[in-house]
Amino acid sequence: MSSTSDPVRLGVVGLGRAFALTAPAIAAHPGVVPVAAAAPRAESRDAFRAAFGGRVYAEVADLAADPEVEAVYVTTPHGMHLDHALTAIRAGKHVLVEKPMAVSLGDACAMVRAARAAGVTLIVGPSHSFDGPVKLAADLIAAGAIGGVRMIHALYATDFLYRPRRADELSTDLGGGVVFSQAIHQVDLVRRLAGGRAVSVYARTGGAWDPARPTEGAYAMMIDFADGAFASLTYSGYAHVDGDRLMEGVSELGVPKPAAHRAARAALSAAPDEAAAKRARGFATLAECPVAETHEHFGQVLVFGERGDLRLTPGGVEVTDDRERRFHPAPFRTTRAEVFDTLHAALRAGVPPLQSGVWGRASLEICHALLASARTGRPQGLVHQGETA
Ligand SMILES: NC(=O)c1ccc[n+]([C@@H]2O[C@H](COP(=O)([O-])OP(=O)(O)OC[C@H]3O[C@@H](n4cnc5c(N)ncnc54)[C@H](O)[C@@H]3O)[C@@H](O)[C@H]2O)c1
Repeated sequence: MSSTSDPVRLGVVGLGRAFALTAPAIAAHPGVVPVAAAAPRAESRDAFRAAFGGRVYAEVADLAADPEVEAVYVTTPHGMHLDHALTAIRAGKHVLVEKPMAVSLGDACAMVRAARAAGVTLIVGPSHSFDGPVKLAADLIAAGAIGGVRMIHALYATDFLYRPRRADELSTDLGGGVVFSQAIHQVDLVRRLAGGRAVSVYARTGGAWDPARPTEGAYAMMIDFADGAFASLTYSGYAHVDGDRLMEGVSELGVPKPAAHRAARAALSAAPDEAAAKRARGFATLAECPVAETHEHFGQVLVFGERGDLRLTPGGVEVTDDRERRFHPAPFRTTRAEVFDTLHAALRAGVPPLQSGVWGRASLEICHALLASARTGRPQGLVHQGETA
């Protein structure tokens, strides 16, 4: 980021797990200053005020009416994103909305239309497409390091299904399961690296392999791109093999991976009140937020090109071609700094964000196509991969 002056004045809606993961970046980034928050629980509001000062509200409408707030970070559950984003947009605020931007494509379209009509910026994130190594890989590809992209492989295995969950996070109809919360990351980063327009999706899901967690816990999908490139994306959230072992023992959040991966199921069944355990993972103090030592990642990503291949690591990108294997480090400041670089550049320098509402809608469409292909057994075409109504 070139300028540290005139930081974007940010209001935050929702102070749960996602905010706890992003708060260290907000606290550290010179281009953003948190000035207000809205959340229904008094403990959360007190925690925000103790960490950042500023004003706190029980109602989103009151935060949206706060004249000091310039941009609103919507970090409530998926099903509330449209309502909270529209409240902010109608008050003339710019919006950074968590992934997925919505559960239904209709809601995503409504959000894009509202932002366009109000002339405000809409950014969807944080997502792993912002990660430093993903940006570096996209820059290397654009500079011709491997020639044209032919094929991408993305694979990740986590304990997603056994982290404490709200009931809606285990209902596919309400946006639960790994598709809306995890495929959206993988799709986002693969699209950034493929650089082309996706045209079709063929997929299978692992649904209810554990009847106690009756939603999609795994998937495998193939995406075809208009320029002939194709990508295979595989994910399991069933807490057996640990995908972070393929990533130098670094967790998704950029911290050394604790050994407890396989213990996630046992830990969950020992928790008497899952909803309370979920709340306990929300924002409490800055000191309790995970502090990344390297970039975040979303598992193994290999890009196969005409003249060479790329492998993403938590520290950067390894390029292998006929002549050599060379590691390019990705400069690291704090976790998620790239998200607030993007927000600051959009609002202060008029740089259009890559991860716009239109971009987020395209990734969401691919998640729906994943589910539809798994349901029907057939490939699915795509219509929202660019500017549409
Ligand atoms: N980018 C990431 O790495 C990441 C990580 C986790 C979650 N997320 C996303 O963030 C969103 C929230 O997920 P979470 O895990 O943080 O959920 P959560 O349940 O931990 O937090 C949701 C927060 O919203 C608040 N809330 C609920 N109703 C509200 C209302 N009417 N007004 C204001 N606040 C309200 C809750 O009190 C809570 O503080 C989801 O869309 C999820 O996909 C993103």
